[in-house]
Amino acid sequence: MKRVFIHTFGCQMNVNDTMRMSEALASMQYAPTPAPESADLIILNTCSIREKAEDKMLSALGRYRQVKLQRGALIGVGGCVAQQEKNRILERVPYVDFVFGPDAIQKLPEIIQRVEADRVRVVETAWVDSEDYVFPRADPNTSRGKATEFITVMKGCDNVCAFCVVPHTRGREVSRPFGDILQEAASLTTVGVREVTLVGQNVNSYRGGVSFAQLLLRTAQVPGIERVRFTTSHPHDLSDELIEAFRVEPKIMGHFHLPVQSGSDEVLERMRRDYTVAEYLERLGKLREARPGIAVTTDIIVGFPGETDEDFEKTYQLTEQVRYAGQFSFIYSPRPKTAAAMREGEWGAVPHEVKIARLERLNALQKKLSVEFNAAQVGQTVEVLVEGASRTDPTRRFGRTSHNTTVNFDGDAPIGALARVAIGAASAASLSGRQVGIDSLPAVVIPDVAAAPEVCVA
Ligand code: SAH
Ligand code: SF4
Ligand code: F3S
Repeated sequence: MKRVFIHTFGCQMNVNDTMRMSEALASMQYAPTPAPESADLIILNTCSIREKAEDKMLSALGRYRQVKLQRGALIGVGGCVAQQEKNRILERVPYVDFVFGPDAIQKLPEIIQRVEADRVRVVETAWVDSEDYVFPRADPNTSRGKATEFITVMKGCDNVCAFCVVPHTRGREVSRPFGDILQEAASLTTVGVREVTLVGQNVNSYRGGVSFAQLLLRTAQVPGIERVRFTTSHPHDLSDELIEAFRVEPKIMGHFHLPVQSGSDEVLERMRRDYTVAEYLERLGKLREARPGIAVTTDIIVGFPGETDEDFEKTYQLTEQVRYAGQFSFIYSPRPKTAAAMREGEWGAVPHEVKIARLERLNALQKKLSVEFNAAQVGQTVEVLVEGASRTDPTRRFGRTSHNTTVNFDGDAPIGALARVAIGAASAASLSGRQVGIDSLPAVVIPDVAAAPEVCVA
């Protein structure tokens, strides 16, 4: 058996792609190793959403160069940087053997054979844009040890957000047929998975034979699936039908990630987000009416070109008004080929120190709101799907609430159990509590060896 080490950067799409890479490589007798220094093949599954993500990839590549020198390991670069930079990676990094895009994962065995047999460097970054694209089917064995899993439901993105590189790295939207998705959910239950998260860059425009709301409802009906989540949903086509699904189906978890990006209509317009703050709030109001107490989280970009102090204040006020349970806020980073990067001079670049000051203020506010949101759970007993031992204290257990909040607790519930946990304390990032009961167990025993894949979210 040869050994492969895959370093994953970026979003859930990439995490899933890494799993599909391991499966494709198993057919070539490559077994995964957690130690790059013992690998015969090293793959970087890259992200280019912000400049920092690319820098992280380059510094990791520098480290893996040693393994090439010492063991002759092959080095490949996949993912979004590979798709966008193509030959430039080979030109700039002489020790990279092959470069492949997200649509070429199933061709990995062929690519590696070519590299090994012909001693050539290979670039394989063609997009498969048509509805004929066949999504790789997950092997449930890859998910052994896990109570929750992600299912890719679509690829690409047809939106044109001015800051975003994804349409340039992932191409046009293609939806996966709903029957495939339901079969994958069913196959995952055979190894004990009880919660699935449907992932795509823009799930509201899912077109795989049923609407996205229907897909969620049908997934919730798959025997053995107790919890359903999804990400990411764009506010501009968040349908009444999807909101209604939250009213009628309790297996859809009480968390909605709804990236707003900015609280200023002027900025939203330049971002080409295609909604106003008022429209966003109207959608959110309906959602909260359909599912009272739902946890709402968001993404925000500060320092988008032309963002004034006044624009930023509006973002700050919106955060206060919505009272998000959590948010990921980022400093705007110009990306190649995007409209905002091309027009930054015209709209006016925001000075770096201003961006930092705005980010710090927003983060401080969000921390306060997250603490308040989580503190409201103290004294309550909540349902937690157990995912394994706590990362900070292996004598405790770890899982997540319906709100997607992490809970560390004293107890003995096995992985996959739906445990009742009395919450005793809260911080901005997690809850702490004590198990008071177990409501149900998974259909199969899940061995307690769950080792999370190495993910470096840039
Ligand atoms: N498809 C998702 C977003 C995926 S990217 C959506 O539409 O919501 C995840 C987040 O990264 C975005 O929501 C945005 O906040 C941030 N992001 C994307 N491009 C960025 C850039 N150029 N600079 C800073 N943050 C960016
Ligand atoms: Fe990027 Fe916008 Fe598509 Fe999200 S919806 S992936 S932010 S272009
Ligand atoms: Fe995901 Fe990063 Fe690509 S966020 S789609 S891996 S650019």
